[in-house]
Amino acid sequence: MKIYAVKTLDISEGNLEKICLLIHLEKRCKIQKFINKKDKVRTLIGEILIRTIIFEELSIRNKHLTFEKNQYGKPYFKGHPKFNFNISHSGDFVVCAIDDKSIGIDIEKVKHIEYKEIAKSFFSLSEFNYIVKEDLNIQLSKFYEIWTLKESYIKCSGQGLSIPLKSFSIDIDQYENIKVIIDKEHKEYVFKRFDIGSGYKMAVCSVNKEISNNIIMIDQNSLINKFRGLI
Ligand SMILES: CC(C)(COP(=O)(O)OP(=O)(O)OC[C@H]1O[C@@H](n2cnc3c(N)ncnc32)[C@H](O)[C@@H]1OP(=O)(O)O)[C@@H](O)C(=O)NCCC(=O)NCCS
Repeated sequence: MKIYAVKTLDISEGNLEKICLLIHLEKRCKIQKFINKKDKVRTLIGEILIRTIIFEELSIRNKHLTFEKNQYGKPYFKGHPKFNFNISHSGDFVVCAIDDKSIGIDIEKVKHIEYKEIAKSFFSLSEFNYIVKEDLNIQLSKFYEIWTLKESYIKCSGQGLSIPLKSFSIDIDQYENIKVIIDKEHKEYVFKRFDIGSGYKMAVCSVNKEISNNIIMIDQNSLINKFRGLI
């Protein structure tokens, strides 16, 4: 397993268009439709990150690369069942995890939202209690912790929001062990929380026994240069 992160920087419109020409048409159209420039940059960087990683790991060049999606929208690399990946982006970060088995990653920029209302409506009762039992000043952080763990599980399972958010519960015990409980049973998923920067929460969910501790930080300009070299 490897976990990568890119701290994104602005890209000029001209450069953005040029790099977009090097990726698949469907993704290019998705990027063009975004109004917010940051959405464009994050999605583009996610795409060139995974394409560059695949070259490094499998020596498969960009032009031979097409991704498929499962019925819930999870992208995968057809014909390579032992190469699994998942991407997430939020705020200034794009993150990606790869593994030989299914994997899910989620990063969220912490925003001042009505977390109690959201948790009451969408989280299990024990998740809600995990948040509100804490001092007021850390409840928002706890909310995002559960949010990213839940999302990493949904993304690992690959079933997206077809899984009702209240149908499973993230349990963090007194020793900080993290489990997912479905129908009162612990499932064989492993979780890890990551500290990637203040104002962000990040979590990884895996069906493998262990999750890497290490995040490989990649400089955006180096990534773009490397990707251009693959063409
Ligand atoms: C699409 C979803 C999988 C993730 O959405 P998200 O958190 O907004 O977005 P992220 O940045 O973490 O992930 C996006 C990436 O996940 C991947 N992805 C898309 N569908 C996926 C799926 N069903 N399973 C796993 N990964 C998926 C794609 O690579 C996508 O990247 P792209 O948009 O550049 O193509 C889905 O769970 C969703 O819509 N969530 C909405 C948020 C929400 O309500 N969360 C509740 C948390 S408790």
